[in-house]
Amino acid sequence: MRSLRLTRPDDWHLHLRDGTALAALLPFTARQFARAIVMPNLRPPVTTTAQARAYRERILATLPAGLRFEPLMTLYLTDRTSPAEIDTARASGVVHGVKYYPAGATTNSESGVTDIARVDAVLAHMAAVGMVLQVHGEVTDPAVDVFDREAVFIERVLAPLIERHPRLKVVFEHITTREAVRFVLGARAGIAATVTPQHLLMNRNALFTGGIRPHHYCLPVLKADLHRLSLLDAVASGTPRLFLGTDSAPHARHTKEAACGCAGIFSAHGALELYAEAFEEAGALSHLEAFAAFHGADFYGLPRNSGQVTLVRESWDVPAHYPFGEDELVPLRAGERIAWRMAP
Ligand code: NCD
Ligand code: ZN
Repeated sequence: MRSLRLTRPDDWHLHLRDGTALAALLPFTARQFARAIVMPNLRPPVTTTAQARAYRERILATLPAGLRFEPLMTLYLTDRTSPAEIDTARASGVVHGVKYYPAGATTNSESGVTDIARVDAVLAHMAAVGMVLQVHGEVTDPAVDVFDREAVFIERVLAPLIERHPRLKVVFEHITTREAVRFVLGARAGIAATVTPQHLLMNRNALFTGGIRPHHYCLPVLKADLHRLSLLDAVASGTPRLFLGTDSAPHARHTKEAACGCAGIFSAHGALELYAEAFEEAGALSHLEAFAAFHGADFYGLPRNSGQVTLVRESWDVPAHYPFGEDELVPLRAGERIAWRMAP
């Protein structure tokens, strides 16, 4: 039986939600990861440092005894975010990034930025004080094909933005295309990206296998296999510009199995194991540790973790669903197997 010992990893892009959902979700992540960048797209969104502090306290109060976990908070950028709020966030020590959602791009993005030009002064201030910008990189133009929205975003928004702000640190979140890989690997210093397990393991056929598969729907949507292979090649190269960010984004079962189903895939139950499958496919298990535990911490200027976890090449059956408050949550690979298991 093969096993792998890794430095305890971090999840650099996670949706923890709030209330009973948070209570159901947190143990999955805290079991595997020492820290996670917690996305701010609650209702209402986390737009101020005071709200981020309060959310952080709710997360810590929910943490079951015996589990250690550090939530790394983010603010939700809006047209009204002020440079003063960035200073407060920076000084707080608990806010590690500001998330830019183009208004309307994804789940709970209605309060997002309507025009990037409106936040230029805030971005300049973030660059000056060293605050990281986390970007949901898709245009919202309905005339652009849904599979092209990331590539078009690079040309129309991201490339000009990082030229206008040459010192701004940017994480291009959950990249899904060959164009994004090329862009990030060729960009100036201070540009990095997160990669999800679903975009390393599945292509868009997974949305339509034998019928429509709402639990494989997330944003950015799964792409053609050539893009998946490009992501796999890139993480297999060991580049420090790419790091683990699950984008685990739970939605109650009935909101996904619906006429207009929500975007988001829940993967926290087997996150590290799913990445191990992908790295194994790429023949790059030796690069998994740095992707999962070193590159993100280095980029954010945080210390690397000291503990360790063990992965064993031993498959397990994923349940059909997990409890989720009053609802059910259907995880990635529900009713199927994952080839690796994290030792308790
Ligand atoms: C996320 C969610 O549900 O909050 N959904 C998703 O499909 N990834 C939002 C996001 O990160 O785009
Ligand atoms: Zn997300």
